[in-house]
Amino acid sequence: MTDLLTISGLSVTARLATDDLRLLDAVDLEVRGGQIVGVVGESGSGKTTLARCVVGLLERNVRVEQGSVTLAGDVVVAPGVDRTGRVRGSAVGMVFQDASRSLNPLMKVRVHLAEVLRRHVPGITRAEIERRSVQVLEQMRITDPTRVLDSYPHQLSGGLKQRVAIGLAVVTRPSLVIADECTTALDVTTQTKVVELFRTLVDELGIGLLFVTHDLMLASDLCDRIAVMSGGRVVEQGDAERVLDRPEQDYTRRLLAAIPSWS
Ligand SMILES: Nc1ncnc2c1ncn2[C@@H]1O[C@H](COP(=O)(O)OP(=O)(O)O)[C@@H](O)[C@H]1O
Ligand SMILES: [Mg+2]
Repeated sequence: MTDLLTISGLSVTARLATDDLRLLDAVDLEVRGGQIVGVVGESGSGKTTLARCVVGLLERNVRVEQGSVTLAGDVVVAPGVDRTGRVRGSAVGMVFQDASRSLNPLMKVRVHLAEVLRRHVPGITRAEIERRSVQVLEQMRITDPTRVLDSYPHQLSGGLKQRVAIGLAVVTRPSLVIADECTTALDVTTQTKVVELFRTLVDELGIGLLFVTHDLMLASDLCDRIAVMSGGRVVEQGDAERVLDRPEQDYTRRLLAAIPSWS
């Protein structure tokens, strides 16, 4: 079975005033359809850099030195290669930490969804936009889609905003979704609901999900596989249960030991 996403030997550096800083060091990672892969690790371990690299959203001073990112068999990122433009937002959906940042405060939810659909589905009719907008909000388990469509972001709760942000990421029917700390700003109950929603979406739609979080507990609830990052390297990866129950690396053991309720 071919992987949806294959990251192979990926090394990335940032150019600083005086020298180069290695942000990612020979990272290998795969995500299949219907699979949730968690990327965990402390702040500064390179998780966001990895997530952004997959969609070509690196800062100006950051460069891919070695390795590649392959999406559904096509190399989209390699040294001197960036073909992410045509997959970003269509084949790959993205959800970030702060839903407010992906939503324009001056635009109703309806307009957000319409803009994304128009951009990615040439010639789509108004009726079809309406149908797919309602459908995706229903998929997000939003019970009153019409009210939400007619709302401005500030009229929605944090959890509802994050659902809308996830809806925006999946309305183009991507095969892969990348979520970077997308539940971090939410309270625990809302977090749990968003996590359940992701599980349902992955199971129902066969999407592959790369779920980036510093929260090992959350990853253990949600993920099929887990990759543990430290200092820009994947120090351990494998089946989520195995990594959490029988960690092979000291670093993973220390991360687990730092969770008060872990037993
Ligand atoms: N454009 C950049 N230039 C220099 N250093 C960077 C840049 N982007 C990220 N870094 C550094 O790389 C490391 C990893 O950052 P990041 O990927 O955001 O980690 P995480 O998401 O795991 O917290 C950090 O030390 C950060 O300061
Ligand atoms: Mg980060």
